[in-house]
Amino acid sequence: MSTLIEPILPNTIAADFLPLQGTDYVEFYVGNAKQAAHFYKTAFGFQSLAYAGPETGIKDKVSYVICQNKLTFVLTTPLRGDNEIADHIYKHGDGVKVLALKVDDATNAWQETTKRGAKSYLAPTTLKDADGEVVLSGIHTYGETVHVFVERNNYKGFFMPGFRKWESNYNPTSTGLLYVDHCVGNVGWYQMNPWVKFYEEVMGFKNILSFDDNDISTEYSALMSKVMSNGNGFVKFPINEPAEGKKKSQVEEYLDFYNGEGVQHVAIATADIVSTVTELQKRGIEFLNIPTSYYETVLERVGKIDEDIAPLQKLGILIDRDEEGYLLQIFSKPLQDRPTLFFEIIQRKGAKSFGKGNFKALFEALEREQDARGNL
Ligand code: FE2
Repeated sequence: MSTLIEPILPNTIAADFLPLQGTDYVEFYVGNAKQAAHFYKTAFGFQSLAYAGPETGIKDKVSYVICQNKLTFVLTTPLRGDNEIADHIYKHGDGVKVLALKVDDATNAWQETTKRGAKSYLAPTTLKDADGEVVLSGIHTYGETVHVFVERNNYKGFFMPGFRKWESNYNPTSTGLLYVDHCVGNVGWYQMNPWVKFYEEVMGFKNILSFDDNDISTEYSALMSKVMSNGNGFVKFPINEPAEGKKKSQVEEYLDFYNGEGVQHVAIATADIVSTVTELQKRGIEFLNIPTSYYETVLERVGKIDEDIAPLQKLGILIDRDEEGYLLQIFSKPLQDRPTLFFEIIQRKGAKSFGKGNFKALFEALEREQDARGNL
């Protein structure tokens, strides 16, 4: 059974040893950053922001920075084979390497987390140019994923030192994506609780929701999940682990193809999911197919909503309600050939939860895809 464990109280914020202002950027290691940047611009409506590579003095890699409202993605590829980025792509395929978090003091964030047991990824480092300075530091989390703390209060440039502005003549319109709502990690068997403990002890997060295999199971497969949130609720990291079922669970399929633990999905907020998803579908983004039967009973479960049901059904948007309101959500198919990372598009209308009422329909849809790949 799922339980709302405890509300986040104002005094928790005061005691927060790791105050976070939200997600700063998400960095993907990809096989071809030039093409990935074109894909994210074209299909998702990102704009060109910054570039780093040989022309800016970086010899071994290229990074394109793209943005849309408060959402910033960095797409990085290696220029040669023998390095950590190339190894990462060989092992995991395209995927998320960095979940970067905005802080007022990156040195303090690194000190507070490493003294509580975090493994350092990057000791505090100051980058300077004519626009000011950015301080970066970083720690390891599950798999080969890392958190980079970004302190940019004294920086007036467009991204950070080392990058030049990326001017492009190709500027597709926005699809209305706003910011990162949450990022979900898939971890190995029996690894959920150790990672929950890591986020509690090392980063001062709280477990705000838990789902067990009775909440999240279908006829065939199951998973367990705990949602971790920082003090002000700006950063939320649900952690999934597989659970025993008759067949292979979606988390196991991910772990197989990603060759280990990593980011399963990035959930992105929109203020108008119908227009966002209409536009994304028009631009070729594929979403999980939801059976018509879902829509026959959904309003009995969630009650009255502002939207017409017909466009939601046509697009395959799911609906759920909690004590505080409702939410609309939809899940893309994997964004690369490996069945690993995907996106969720979410519009919250008061609800602060994660769509528990949709888990069954969602996981059955995922299993149909998994079965079609021969991995169920
Ligand atoms: Fe999600």
